[in-house]
Amino acid sequence: MRLLRFLLVAFGILASTPIGQVNSHQESGEWRCESDSEIQVLAEYKAGIVTLDGHADDWKDVEGSEFSLLPALDPDEDHEYKGGKMTVKALHDGKDVYFLLQVDGEYAYTKGINNKCPSVALMFQVGESASYYNMGGCKETADKCTSKTCRGYEVDIMHFSVGNAIPGRLYGGNPIDNGEGNGGDRFGHLVDLYAWNPHCRNLDGIGPSGNDSSAQNNWKGAWWHSSFTTHSGFVEEDSPYTSSAQKGTYYFEFSRPLRTMDRLQQDVQFTIGEASKFSVAFWYPVDGKPWHGAGHYSVSCDWVPLDISSGSSVLTKMASRNSWDAASAFALILSVVSFCISVFVGYWVSRGKARSFEPIDGL
Ligand SMILES: *[C@@H]1O[C@H](CO)[C@@H](O)[C@H](O)[C@H]1NC(C)=O
Repeated sequence: MRLLRFLLVAFGILASTPIGQVNSHQESGEWRCESDSEIQVLAEYKAGIVTLDGHADDWKDVEGSEFSLLPALDPDEDHEYKGGKMTVKALHDGKDVYFLLQVDGEYAYTKGINNKCPSVALMFQVGESASYYNMGGCKETADKCTSKTCRGYEVDIMHFSVGNAIPGRLYGGNPIDNGEGNGGDRFGHLVDLYAWNPHCRNLDGIGPSGNDSSAQNNWKGAWWHSSFTTHSGFVEEDSPYTSSAQKGTYYFEFSRPLRTMDRLQQDVQFTIGEASKFSVAFWYPVDGKPWHGAGHYSVSCDWVPLDISSGSSVLTKMASRNSWDAASAFALILSVVSFCISVFVGYWVSRGKARSFEPIDGL
């Protein structure tokens, strides 16, 4: 029974890890993407296990999905990010969803200059017509896109540029920027944006036909590099925090409430038990050269499903059905044993009786 449970669990884990590769290529200006239908990221329900501090030790029991990082605009395998693959992990606690992005990279950091530091972004489908390609894919030009002309093409973006962010410190939504009613973050540049296409991209609350002060930056996050030796808390004066070109792993950790108070169709809303569509982008100053906005890597050339699984997830269901099987097997064994005992007792009693009727002449 334990073996059966192990097999079921092992299969469940296997089935939830991406197996295939993403094959895509841009030829003759035509965008083509053959992404494997197997790929997905599973956000299981696990409450109270991760702390939002940029450290990854608390994620060690969470199954991740591994992706090659190919140039987003021309996903050619020859130009893959040489540092290594990106591991994406996600979970939720019923209230917030958490992400961990983990990627190997020599330490690169130039204080105050975002494009000479690594940077990451998450992008989510909001409108049902929004494509991964072209950030929503609304056909309108920059001066024509509005919430009306691009209705249905909305994507939600979180972008973290670490040039002014102290490792291990929390950035994102803060009282000052949220007080102004937009998705900005003046302290660490962990911003909450929305877009209809690459030319129609704004902070939440800021729009071409006016601003709406009801918006908020709903994201929080932190970063870390494995070559840092102190855990007691960095301050700005410690920059660049360690010497450059040290081998190691970058960690980016984020959280956001499953639901936000967005009324403008600028935030993705997560539903427990349902899948969302998302993608992850990564910028790195390759050979010390500053990156530019479009020169980013991506985990896939199409949306990746993000499964927000419910507390009674597949594994739990399997486990509970399995324990029901165990209970009924135990009941069956118990009934067989009790039947055998009753037969034996009956036999023993009848033999005993027979013996008690033996003649007592010998006495
Ligand atoms: C909207 O907000 C942005 C950024 O704060 C500002 O530059 C712009 O002038 C505002 N637009 C309107 C119409 O108030």
